[in-house]
Amino acid sequence: MNTPRPFSPELTRKLESFKGMAKPMKLGSISFDSKLLLAPMAGICNIPYRLLMEDLGAGGTVSELISCHGINYGNQRTLEMLKIHPLERNVGIQLFGEDAEAMSRAAEVTESFGPKFIDINMGCPVTKVVTKGGGSALMKEVTALAPLFEKMRSKMKVPLSIKIRTGWDSQNRNASEILHIAKESGIEWVAIHGRTRTQQYTGLADWDFIENLNDTKELPLIGNGDLHHPYGVSERLQKTKCDALMIARGALRNPFIFVESLDPTYASQKRSKFSGSDYWEVVQRLHTYTTETFSEERTILVQIRKLVVWFAAGFPHAAAFRSQIFACQNLNDCLKITEDYFLSIGESQKFINYDEVFMSSGHG
Ligand SMILES: Cc1cc2nc3c(=O)[nH]c(=O)nc-3n(C[C@H](O)[C@H](O)[C@H](O)COP(=O)(O)O)c2cc1C
Repeated sequence: MNTPRPFSPELTRKLESFKGMAKPMKLGSISFDSKLLLAPMAGICNIPYRLLMEDLGAGGTVSELISCHGINYGNQRTLEMLKIHPLERNVGIQLFGEDAEAMSRAAEVTESFGPKFIDINMGCPVTKVVTKGGGSALMKEVTALAPLFEKMRSKMKVPLSIKIRTGWDSQNRNASEILHIAKESGIEWVAIHGRTRTQQYTGLADWDFIENLNDTKELPLIGNGDLHHPYGVSERLQKTKCDALMIARGALRNPFIFVESLDPTYASQKRSKFSGSDYWEVVQRLHTYTTETFSEERTILVQIRKLVVWFAAGFPHAAAFRSQIFACQNLNDCLKITEDYFLSIGESQKFINYDEVFMSSGHG
């Protein structure tokens, strides 16, 4: 494991000036450096991206959802997904499945990889997952939950958390009932995406519902949903009753969202301190982590390409950059194009139209 090259003094100074505003917090029995956490995202929250986000101020991270059956079958690709980098300090591994026995066996294996906590996916709306009884379908079978949680708990030492939605549909928003069962069965905290399963990613996350759940005082709560830009996150952070907030899609288009959102004055300024050359440094670090994690050049290229294109969103000529990057089949050329692009934008500000839909599907 190589320690990455330090960021430049200029970028380090900017990051530190924000990180000083982070408030450490406790969820259940463990501590995190900031209340702003990276949400799990399938195909994205692998080692390089999680490490990068921790470097850029995420108080904690969660892996993508990992199949308990894949773990129990000893599937090599699934076991690879359980790996944690020695530099990762605050990572949880998320498991999905429907069967208490299979989930508890998988939790035991997962724990041997050294996560800080294990999370159960109870929010995935994808048909392939819910028809087997996993993901958000778990919210429908409430009587099966206590045995599931207790069985998993009996096999592991690190904290167990759950990530849910508000309910299955608008007639069945049973998150508070689930919180109660979770508390009685040894779950330490709950993350909630403020939509129902049937909503998938449509409409808006219901933040009144999330905030009201805090009144039950059952368990520490992490609120999630539509926290896309630093001024929105900053506003929410100041008024929320949640113990922490989780950001998913917002961190794809703005890798500095975890630090920028800590600044209460950001809401009025709406001006980012981070320049094109800061973005280029971030990409270089992403490259270091990605080459360390994956050996095949094609995989490295695919991983880096999608992220640099998202990071460029909202900057001038981002569409032309995107076309160039996706036409490029060679890693070195891709990096050169990225360097030229980010260094050319200098101090130009990002302008993202947050009313436009961005990534309207996912596993939670
Ligand atoms: C591409 C993508 C993949 C996702 N994968 C997962 C996952 O593996 N596990 C999970 O619990 N949630 C997953 N989610 C849901 C997010 O964690 C989050 O709950 C949701 O996107 C709402 O937050 P946001 O508005 O900040 O994006 C995924 C979301 C997206 C967009």
